[in-house]
Amino acid sequence: MALSSLFSLKSLAVLVVLMAIPLGIIVSLERAQPSTHVYNYHGTGGWLRECAKWDPTNRRFIVSFFEGGVGEVRVPEEAEKEVLLEEVTTVMEVNLAGNSSLGISVDTQRNRVLVVHADVFGNRYSALSAYDLSTWQRLFLTQLSGPTPTKLVVAGNPSGRLVESKDGWETAAVVSKFSGPMHRLATSATLKDGKPYLNHMIGIGYPKKKFAIVEAVF
Ligand SMILES: *[C@@H]1O[C@H](CO)[C@@H](O)[C@H](O)[C@H]1NC(C)=O
Repeated sequence: MALSSLFSLKSLAVLVVLMAIPLGIIVSLERAQPSTHVYNYHGTGGWLRECAKWDPTNRRFIVSFFEGGVGEVRVPEEAEKEVLLEEVTTVMEVNLAGNSSLGISVDTQRNRVLVVHADVFGNRYSALSAYDLSTWQRLFLTQLSGPTPTKLVVAGNPSGRLVESKDGWETAAVVSKFSGPMHRLATSATLKDGKPYLNHMIGIGYPKKKFAIVEAVF
């Protein structure tokens, strides 16, 4: 008992020493006089800001929160030097909670800002959204990727294959095949009302070409 508490005390001391070294460097770097112009600002929440982009129309930096959300840091014209600016939260998407807000692009021409959101650690979700630069109203939110289903329909010849993975798509196997009109070459699959359909590339007929989107039954 005494030995184990001694050991934990020792490891704690080692940890403190290890942490003190980079902390000392950080403190001295923070105290050094910067050689170029700096905008410092107080954040509203977490520690990490992945992206900052200048919005010239509204004289502000738009910043993305790694913990999720977007903020603005307004820069008054008269206070260009050594003023501590304040960040204000402008976007907090409740539906995206748990995801990070990452890349930003200010689209001045369309008076909007584009923001990428992603589940950085789980890698199970990502989306692109846009907000009005005057009102911060959301213009759209488009999912880019999401949880992968356990079964997938793949187009190819002869026509469709049903592919299944039991280990999160580390490996997968063809579990069933569907033969459609082979001569038309199946090139892509889509789901309509829960049923898979295969696009066929080649149109047939003259002068009008007839194309076929064929339901695949496995
Ligand atoms: C990210 O947002 C999606 C969409 O609302 C949600 O389903 C998912 O759970 C979120 N990710 C995390 C890690 O919370």
